[in-house]
Amino acid sequence: MDYKTTKDSDLAYFKSFLTESNILTDKTTLEGYGKDHTEDLFFEPSLVLIPQLTQDVSKIMAYCHLHCIPVTPRGAGTGLSGGCLPVKKGIVLSLEKFNKILKIDPSNYQAIVEPGVINEHFQNEVQLQNMFYPPDPASKGSCTLGGNVAHSSGGPRCVKYGTTRDYILNLEVVLPTGEIIQTGANVLKNSTGYNLTQLMVGSEGTLGIITKITIKLLPFPAYNTLLLAAFDSALDACKCVPAILNAGIIPSALEFMDKRGVELSTKAHQITFDTEQGNAYLLIEVDAFTNENLMPQCEKIYEVLEKHNVKNILLAEDTATKEKFWKIRRSIGEVVKKLSIYKEEDTVVTRANLPELYDYISYLSNTYGFDCICYGHAGDGNLHVNILKLKMSDDQWNIELPKAIRLLFEKCKELGGTISGEHGIGLVQKPYLDVVFQPIHFQLMQGIKRTFDPHGILNPDKIFNM
Ligand code: MLT
Ligand code: ZN
Repeated sequence: MDYKTTKDSDLAYFKSFLTESNILTDKTTLEGYGKDHTEDLFFEPSLVLIPQLTQDVSKIMAYCHLHCIPVTPRGAGTGLSGGCLPVKKGIVLSLEKFNKILKIDPSNYQAIVEPGVINEHFQNEVQLQNMFYPPDPASKGSCTLGGNVAHSSGGPRCVKYGTTRDYILNLEVVLPTGEIIQTGANVLKNSTGYNLTQLMVGSEGTLGIITKITIKLLPFPAYNTLLLAAFDSALDACKCVPAILNAGIIPSALEFMDKRGVELSTKAHQITFDTEQGNAYLLIEVDAFTNENLMPQCEKIYEVLEKHNVKNILLAEDTATKEKFWKIRRSIGEVVKKLSIYKEEDTVVTRANLPELYDYISYLSNTYGFDCICYGHAGDGNLHVNILKLKMSDDQWNIELPKAIRLLFEKCKELGGTISGEHGIGLVQKPYLDVVFQPIHFQLMQGIKRTFDPHGILNPDKIFNM
């Protein structure tokens, strides 16, 4: 694709409908928009535009389509696959000012929001009206709902409640050519043609710019109990995961943490916690609408844990302890990433295959000599494998490690899984997509991309090559 760089005439056009403060050209500011939370990647854009109206997004897209200028949409920049990085330079289109909750509708258990609303802020607002929005990525305090839709983000509660995808009813989208469409309707059932709403969810900003989101809500389960179970063996912890569900319990979170992750997280946040209790942990939450429903679930979980050689079970009796345990879990990703240059893999397999996946990760780390920290959403079979460079040579890191990652992904496929559960493909997982997709998959996806975006201007070079 022959992309054009932005010129003074382009800037003059954008100035005709955007205020100066919503057009950023200053070098230091541009640098900030050239990074996200993925490794140490950096791609500086030529220009950042911050529209506030759907009509303005439409004007930008129509213009850029006509002039072949690359546009990369951006939420809060908390993504972990490089999805919002402007790899072909051009314009970063930030949705940060699309930050309003437009409507909360208790009679329909729905809300309509703009894409720049922060996930946790939205959760808190709907909870005030006794409603519940479950998807809760680790970055919930800073990530945006638009970014969550773009990646179908997950988080600990997916094991019971599903991912972002399961809560999106309808979207307003500006297509790469500038047209504005509704992808569906604000209804719980819709059997009307192809499901464009779900095509947009998880498309990582490559098919359109989301400007409005209709969200399905649930009644708020006001009671929960949290257990932290310590094991000597990580394999025992992994084997326990399907057994809990087989016992008829669907926890509202079922998370795995290895000892190193817990050590790093507690140390970084000066959390008092005896890290010698185990080599691996399961953080297990159950929720309910009444208090009486909690204990029977916990009793069953205790039975399963005991059959799987649990060493110690800590029950979080009060809010402070619950917050402490969640802080340990939620901080691991961020703390690990400060330790060294790293690569994070977002492996996912069928839940019952988790022990086999864990075993294989240990084998690869011994064979290829890399150090890694594993944690994640065990209940979904979704394990984050953070590989640390530490003292590995550049050759080992750049040449040998990709071979190990490929083997890891081949194993995921063999175990009924795939190469990303919730972080997306973006830029960094692109080289491995052929592990799970055949040429026909690429042809189908390229065809869809071409239909939406004939000039390939929207978030170019992401997920797959054209
Ligand atoms: C998590 O589960 O902690 C998140 O996906 C973030 C991360 O892995 O860095
Ligand atoms: Zn995660």
